[in-house]
Amino acid sequence: MSTKSYIESNKDRFLDELFQLLRIPSISADSAYANDVRKCAETVAHFLTQAGADNVVLEETAGFPIVYGDKLIDPSLPTVLVYGHYDVQPSVPNELWHTPPFEPTLKDGKIYARGACDDKGQMFMHVKAFESMMQTQELACNIKFMIEGEEEVGSNNLGTYCKANKEKLKADVILISDTSMLANDLPSIDIGLRGLSYVEVAVTGPNIDLHSGVYGGAVANPINVLCDMIARMKDDKQHITIPGFYDDVVIVSEEDRAAMAKTPFDLEAYKKHLDIEDVMGETGYTTIERTGTRPTLDVNGIWGGYIGEGAKTVLPSKAYAKISMRLVPNQSSEKITQLFSDYFLSIAPKGVRVTVTPHHGGEPVLTPTDSVPYKAAAAAMKDTFGLDPIPTRGGGSIPIVALFEKELQTKTVLMGFGLDSDAIHSPNEHYGVFNYFRGIETIPRFFHHFAKMNP
Ligand code: BES
Ligand code: MN
Ligand code: MN
Repeated sequence: MSTKSYIESNKDRFLDELFQLLRIPSISADSAYANDVRKCAETVAHFLTQAGADNVVLEETAGFPIVYGDKLIDPSLPTVLVYGHYDVQPSVPNELWHTPPFEPTLKDGKIYARGACDDKGQMFMHVKAFESMMQTQELACNIKFMIEGEEEVGSNNLGTYCKANKEKLKADVILISDTSMLANDLPSIDIGLRGLSYVEVAVTGPNIDLHSGVYGGAVANPINVLCDMIARMKDDKQHITIPGFYDDVVIVSEEDRAAMAKTPFDLEAYKKHLDIEDVMGETGYTTIERTGTRPTLDVNGIWGGYIGEGAKTVLPSKAYAKISMRLVPNQSSEKITQLFSDYFLSIAPKGVRVTVTPHHGGEPVLTPTDSVPYKAAAAAMKDTFGLDPIPTRGGGSIPIVALFEKELQTKTVLMGFGLDSDAIHSPNEHYGVFNYFRGIETIPRFFHHFAKMNP
């Protein structure tokens, strides 16, 4: 039987098994779900074994386990290391979901569930593609799986694991499906990811919450001050004002900009989908350039003072914000965090005390399109979709990709099958059944092309 007909005749089970994974609330950020995260690791291990992998283990770390498994068929063949993550983002606010986040539901050809696209659905395509290649004697490369449970919280323990297991993880390419394509009829391959610098800031004014009438106007209000300070981080051209922030930013060449301008992009549809009147960003750049090639600074959350029912007249003692900066080549997350911190502290008025606490970071990546892994992925996409994929630069981050290159000296290919409209990290995340099966179909083609291109 061909791999394609094996996939065809096992479609229902492939969906059913993905649903089993999606029912486990493996939220890595919330310790209340720690047991579920672990259970999810065990379930992934079970499916890997069932698919035919050898040496399946839960590699214990200081955090959640990494699921490892492999099938090493012939040392003369190239080796593909598949990376993915089984943890998911929190599902809150739950009341905005039309169906419960951990009860996967099929509607209009889409699977609705937290993690459906990011990344359980995309990661599991590799397990099912592997099973299909095993069952049809079509596995064309050696394969290693490394599926982690801490991607959504910064992959803090994966770097250590990679460093300690260089030989075990040795591979000719790292294959990841955790990004998106332009559209179902417009295949594309992500060649770029942004880096990340994430900080939490706290502004403290008076030692207790005060009466906002008795003290208002005479004492610094930490929330007002925080808003002021945040406003000062960008000018009216949406240019970030932190001194030195752009020093290392690689200026994209005019050729690259011209190529990006040809990428199909419907601004009207984009605005309509988000229900916004207009887009907003750095002056002088298109929307695609803003997300793909330019760094940003965004407040992810801000709190303090009274937010209960009704009105309480209070001058708060404290205010907080979580701030992310997306980085582009050749910015360094450590350096940017330092620059942010120096600047933020320098603009604080005397009436408050300010602290900056760094969270996780990650480095940006840009992968070449003239490499064997890219060419193999492009050929595989072409076989499936009948069109040459367009190289694109994603705005999101997968910090471990830069680390793989540093620690394992291995290049990554980002062959993702999601869509930007899949609502990852948002309520009603979904993944197309079409995308799930196109992925399962395309992955064996990648193995085939990669083996052929690596004689
Ligand atoms: N899969 C995403 C990253 C992504 C999505 C890249 C779409 C390109 C296109 C990943 O799971 C993710 O969400 N990463 C985090 C970073 C992490 C350190 C929390 C992100 O980008 O916010
Ligand atoms: Mn992901
Ligand atoms: Mn994510």
